[in-house]
Amino acid sequence: MEKVIGIDLGTTNSCVSVVENGAAVVIPNRGGYKTTPSMVAMTEAGKRLVGHLAKRQAITNAENTVYSAKRLIGRKWNSPQVKQVASSASYSIVEGPHNDVRIQLRDKPHSIPEISAMVLAEMKLIAEEYLGHEVTKAVVTVPAYFNDNQRQATKDAGAIAGLDVIRIINEPTAAALAYGFGRNIDRTVAVYDLGGGTFDISVLEIGSEGVFRVVSTNGDTFLGGEDFDARVIDWLVDGFKAEHGIDLRKDRMALQRLKDAAEKAKIELSSVREVEINLPFIISSGRNEALHLQRVLTRAEFEKLTGDLVDRTVEIVRQTLDDAGLSRDDVEDVVLVGGMTRMPRVERAVAEFFGREPSKGVHPDEVVAVGAGIQGAALGEESSMQSKVVLLDVTPQTLGMMVAGGLFEPLIPKDTTVPTMRTKSFTTSRDNQTAVKILVMQGENDQADKNELLGEFILTGLRRAPAGAVEIEVTFEINADGIVSVHAKDLETGKEQSITVTATSGLTPDELRDMIDAGEQYAVERKRDEEYEGRKQEAESLIHEIERLFEKVAKVVGGSDYGRDALDKAHTVIEKTRAAIARRDTEALTQQVDALSRTLRMFKGVVQKA
Ligand SMILES: Nc1ncnc2c1ncn2[C@@H]1O[C@H](COP(=O)(O)OP(=O)(O)OP(=O)(O)O)[C@@H](O)[C@H]1O
Ligand SMILES: [Mg+2]
Repeated sequence: MEKVIGIDLGTTNSCVSVVENGAAVVIPNRGGYKTTPSMVAMTEAGKRLVGHLAKRQAITNAENTVYSAKRLIGRKWNSPQVKQVASSASYSIVEGPHNDVRIQLRDKPHSIPEISAMVLAEMKLIAEEYLGHEVTKAVVTVPAYFNDNQRQATKDAGAIAGLDVIRIINEPTAAALAYGFGRNIDRTVAVYDLGGGTFDISVLEIGSEGVFRVVSTNGDTFLGGEDFDARVIDWLVDGFKAEHGIDLRKDRMALQRLKDAAEKAKIELSSVREVEINLPFIISSGRNEALHLQRVLTRAEFEKLTGDLVDRTVEIVRQTLDDAGLSRDDVEDVVLVGGMTRMPRVERAVAEFFGREPSKGVHPDEVVAVGAGIQGAALGEESSMQSKVVLLDVTPQTLGMMVAGGLFEPLIPKDTTVPTMRTKSFTTSRDNQTAVKILVMQGENDQADKNELLGEFILTGLRRAPAGAVEIEVTFEINADGIVSVHAKDLETGKEQSITVTATSGLTPDELRDMIDAGEQYAVERKRDEEYEGRKQEAESLIHEIERLFEKVAKVVGGSDYGRDALDKAHTVIEKTRAAIARRDTEALTQQVDALSRTLRMFKGVVQKA
């Protein structure tokens, strides 16, 4: 029976879970932590670091350390969000070949799915070490408000990491699943999820038969803890500039230290009323004089700096209830998810809006992964769970197309339960027209170009005929992952029409294949590396023990030919082992470990008898 793991691929932290004996287990990483920083770095020697290892060296290797890649995934190069990240990140982003974004790590630009894949591969490994076998299938979560491009890119990331992403589920839905699973409750629940990079609100009806029906969802995929940190950074930078006339933003290492300090201060302010931010030697004045940054930030000041961000989330919540035709009183439970909901001002704002205290008892950092794990088990072969979970999610944004005058014609409205489809007929408008172009987009604006372009679909190879004589039926489909596909059929001949997708920011199939190959190659190399390291450690400790006994053994047996011969052989074994270590030859090293063990046994025997 193949286990399906659940991964919460967060902006700041990622978390993995799996169901064992009917209960979801959050799997700790090697360091014993249940969440892993979604950070990736490349060392000077070209070694890839992920998670805590990447985080630990972020300040000294700021330019080659990536954080918050999720804020960039599925976005176009010329989007305002990408511009914002470009101007504030300590790593460099460059334009990719399809109007997409790449991150420069050392000498190589990496697509965002590749970066996310490195994090996913790490989560896969954490699960494999825990389970003791390979894992190939996963349920991965995304913010509910993610559009098709962002979902598709996340799926690509899974493939590059060697994972078959059997389902993508929305983070608040996953949280609701973890919250309601097995509790036999029948109620309307609001999930407010403010994480490191994104904000989501979903209203669900949880039924006692294990049905989780999303009624309405809304969000902002560029609103989260990062923005709170940015306000503190701005405050520090502006203050420093006023005092010393120096712009700290120009120095990447200083910027990374500021970011670190800002986040730390923010977190501390959730439990204390004021913090001192202290960054000695933050920059040189240019006259060879080191300058220090030292400032006190109070909770009140911090709340003032970020008040509008909290207000924005509340506004989105109000909108969601309106869309669902619900009043605040209809919501029976409020569940808080995401690290940012630990900020007292956030919790208070939500409690005030709903007029009730949020439910306690869900772990804000782990609940999404737990839900993903439960869904994974239900979709997998954990038959005891299959009948117990039914997720009915919705599409977060209206799907439509561009029509005459640059207007947006909705085809599938937001909050429609998925999977769903809609067909539409097109007729040719010119004589002998052989192609039709369809621009598919997602969003709520009447102006087509204000919405997110998913793709230009070109129907080609139409029959040559007078205008209006060819009728084509186009089907727009959204699957359970929230991913859009478009098919077309010639109504008269019943022939499927081919559709070419252009102008998306995604990877081409060729690029994706290359990246999957590179991912596999890396996994093999890493396994080999780890095996080598393990053998090397074994060998070194054996050598150490043998050398410790050498003198004693020499005293006992060194007088005989047989004894001298044994000692020579022991020397040779050690030399050969050292040579194998130097060559990084794992296979030879494995043989040498056996030989060393035999030598040690013999040595111990001699010493014991003496
Ligand atoms: N005690 C705290 N007080 C305030 N903020 C906190 C606290 N603990 C964590 N955070 C913030 O919460 C954010 C991380 O939350 P979380 O791990 O839920 O995000 P994520 O799941 O990685 O992101 P997302 O869901 O947006 O993709 C960070 O910005 C972090 O600074
Ligand atoms: Mg999250």
